[in-house]
Amino acid sequence: MTVERTLILCKPDAVRRNLVGEIIARIERRGYVITAMHMMQLDGERARRHYAEHEGKPFFDELVTFITSAPLVAMAVEGEGAIEGCRQLAGATNPLQAAPGSIRADFAQSIGRNLIHASDAAASAARELDIFFKDSDYVSRRHDVERSRT
Ligand code: RTP
Ligand code: MG
Repeated sequence: MTVERTLILCKPDAVRRNLVGEIIARIERRGYVITAMHMMQLDGERARRHYAEHEGKPFFDELVTFITSAPLVAMAVEGEGAIEGCRQLAGATNPLQAAPGSIRADFAQSIGRNLIHASDAAASAARELDIFFKDSDYVSRRHDVERSRT
């Protein structure tokens, strides 16, 4: 497996419910490494770009309204197999279908308030990370990433 970089968002419901620490703790305990982090309120243009794949779907407008409604925390997370691993930590989109022990199963009740975003593939991770971070935002934690693999 290769070292990957993925985008994690602690969505506005996670910030409002003070679950950012819980989410970060699970990511760190799994051995992944945060290499960029930013608390911010997303504007509509960036929100529509982030969720471009969902444009035209019935839930799109509500999704954009929600993600821009209050501050969120964006993070770049790195590690071996980090893209799929973070999807696993998040759990299925609908908390009722999420595996017990996942963030969504443990803390969320509905699909529209499911606390966390995690990129679903290498191409989407690269595209989404570019919306939130520029090259100089990333710190180098190569040795931490390597240590966490053993
Ligand atoms: P995310 O992108 O947030 O990590 O979630 P995901 O891959 O598990 O789900 P995705 O299909 O990409 O959907 C993005 C977000 O849109 C909301 N959603 N609502 N009402 C609905 O049927 C519906 N479907 C999706 C969810 O908040 C989901 O996280
Ligand atoms: Mg998605």
